[in-house]
Amino acid sequence: MRPMLNQYTDRNPALAADYAAHVAEVGKRFSKALERAGAAHAVIFSGAPHYAFLDDRAYPFAANPHFLSWVPLTALPSSYIVHTPGEKPVLVYYQPKDYWHVVPGEPEGFWTDHFDIRVIHDPDDAGRHLPEDREKCVLLGEITDADQAFGIERVNPQTTLNLLHLERGRKTAYELECMRLASRRAVAGHRAARDAFERGCSEFDIHQHYCAAVLQTDNELPYGNIIALNEHGAVLHYTDLDRERPAEARSFLIDAGADVLGYAADITRTYSAAQGEFRDLIERMETLQLDVVGRVRAGVDFRDLHIDTHRLLAGVLTDAGLASGDAETLLATGVTSAFFPHGLGHLIGLQVHDVAGHLGDVSGTRIDPPSGHPFLRLTRVLEEDMVVTIEPGLYIIDLLLDNLRGTPAEKQVHWDTVDRLRPYGGIRIEDDVRVLANGAENLTRDAFALSSGSA
Ligand code: GLY
Ligand code: MN
Ligand code: MN
Repeated sequence: MRPMLNQYTDRNPALAADYAAHVAEVGKRFSKALERAGAAHAVIFSGAPHYAFLDDRAYPFAANPHFLSWVPLTALPSSYIVHTPGEKPVLVYYQPKDYWHVVPGEPEGFWTDHFDIRVIHDPDDAGRHLPEDREKCVLLGEITDADQAFGIERVNPQTTLNLLHLERGRKTAYELECMRLASRRAVAGHRAARDAFERGCSEFDIHQHYCAAVLQTDNELPYGNIIALNEHGAVLHYTDLDRERPAEARSFLIDAGADVLGYAADITRTYSAAQGEFRDLIERMETLQLDVVGRVRAGVDFRDLHIDTHRLLAGVLTDAGLASGDAETLLATGVTSAFFPHGLGHLIGLQVHDVAGHLGDVSGTRIDPPSGHPFLRLTRVLEEDMVVTIEPGLYIIDLLLDNLRGTPAEKQVHWDTVDRLRPYGGIRIEDDVRVLANGAENLTRDAFALSSGSA
């Protein structure tokens, strides 16, 4: 049987200490959502495996994040939590009798005291543990088969989801601790990956070293690692993992995270093999990134921070001889967007790209990204205890730069510098940052500092 928590987290008493307050807060949020929905019980379904077409092979299981917001059980399909305000939550815990697969072990760990746990061995038995008055229930989860709903008809009401998603933006002390641990775990991988790059490994081998250092398989990582040498750094979501090391490895961009109890880290670093123009540019981007992190605080509109980053990037482009012109012109003509075509960052937590980045209120009002910046995933005003990524980038992406030809921007770009830097791909530096009333806690840099050496 599979132990329910792993050794990485069992060794951290801070988690257990903060968990009681976390469950109380989650209960409060769900009670508020129920009140608004005029319902008496929330039933949260953990999810069920998905199978490949015409196959008996299941895709890696991804639990319902609403279920994970209650319990750190990332591998427990066909289970339910029932929240009734004022009562201890019920956990219907499905433990199949199965000799083909490893099955979930007995419920154990710091979380168990907070639930009335009912172990079942047949998924059909879950219905007996759900509130009898199904009309007073809302069901939250991915229902792919009517049997999973046990007659509950109100499934995923949008305002209920909106309310919970908005609240989830602010992390509890327990969640922050999970995320600090996730950053530390990822940093161990980043250090191993950098060593592997310096030893001359291929992308594929660097990835293996990363996984070994974080003690996670590909399926356990919060997203597919981006391990990119040379020009591959310009492919924003490059996940190919070349088996061969190129003849000359000039640059290394790594965007890789780790998971702790369902919470993600999302970290990017870029390295240059040699001294010179590209390494200097990394240093400039590092200064820019730290400048932007320094502007994070509650009350800041993330759209403004994104646009301010473009202004700062314009300065880097001109200093580096990639472009000329004043910042406003380089923004208006689309030059900064061609070099930095993604958003500054996003909410992060139980999902790497956490929900509700564009959500303005419970009724579902959408806050659009600024015009010309469609890929900005977070458009809200920052609140205390949100965790966001700050991940400015600068890439040589010919597909985008070629669009500038024949426009006023063509003359602002210094194409000879573009040609010189193309073989290095691009730069991204990404930290996970907790918003404070008057600043930020940098989870990523704290984790690098703890593991000693430079970030
Ligand atoms: N690793 C995905 C992202 O940075 O958003
Ligand atoms: Mn990110
Ligand atoms: Mn990333």
